[in-house]
Amino acid sequence: MTSDEQPTRVSVYDSFAEGYTAENEANLVNGYYQRPAMLALAGDVSGRRILDAGCGSGPLFASLRERGALMSGFDASAGMLELARRRLGDDADLRLADLGGPLPYPDDTFDDVVAALVLHYLEDWGPALAELRRVLRPGGRLLVSVDHPFAMHLMHRQAGREADYPYFGTTNWVEEWSFGGQSGMVSIWHRPLHAMSEAFTAAGFRITGISEPEPDPAAREVFPEELAAKPRFLCFLFFVLQAP
Ligand SMILES: C[S@@+](CC[C@H](N)C(=O)[O-])C[C@H]1O[C@@H](n2cnc3c(N)ncnc32)[C@H](O)[C@@H]1O
Repeated sequence: MTSDEQPTRVSVYDSFAEGYTAENEANLVNGYYQRPAMLALAGDVSGRRILDAGCGSGPLFASLRERGALMSGFDASAGMLELARRRLGDDADLRLADLGGPLPYPDDTFDDVVAALVLHYLEDWGPALAELRRVLRPGGRLLVSVDHPFAMHLMHRQAGREADYPYFGTTNWVEEWSFGGQSGMVSIWHRPLHAMSEAFTAAGFRITGISEPEPDPAAREVFPEELAAKPRFLCFLFFVLQAP
């Protein structure tokens, strides 16, 4: 850690950083769905200063940097950051920091923040969104992807767990995830769509886009059977938000 980095709690991602990264690289839901969707929402990023909040091992950071963005990133997992460092090189601006606590950047630093698949690990989005808004310049954008709340509801309903995880509630569930022989107990927070939109607007953001995209067209060649059976699916939900 450098002197301005915060000590963080041990992250479950440390226990499966390598396995998660290998699987995330080119699978359907991340490589051919979530990341292309975030890149499409970001549009032309050349010359823009962008913060990757919960950057993990840095695949989105790398793609945005290739498109000309000036990137910074942070994550709560030292293991994921080590892999990001390997991918992105020693001069990449990567910090160990906890979304939900104070972030190690001055006010009004970034044109955009991307928060890909990280907010759903937090019970309370208020402090995290306030910090992201603080580090965004006025008028800056926050691009978010999260577990789609209705997809999560369907998953629990199909598993017969609807009583424990009703749609209209903010509920926590913990499950074991395994990747290539590595595993850990992951804690995720479900919240309904209205709770997400209320959190965004309470933090002062204007919702300028909500997206349920199709997979990248290239996915049809790489995953022909999956996409023939299910050309569109609910998995993640995407928001474009604007700071005042
Ligand atoms: C599903 S991964 C996504 C990683 C990356 N955004 C991507 O799209 O590949 C979630 C990441 O969020 C990080 N994370 C979870 N809770 C966090 C928190 N409170 N603060 C910072 N990072 C967090 C994890 O360590 C992990 O790297």
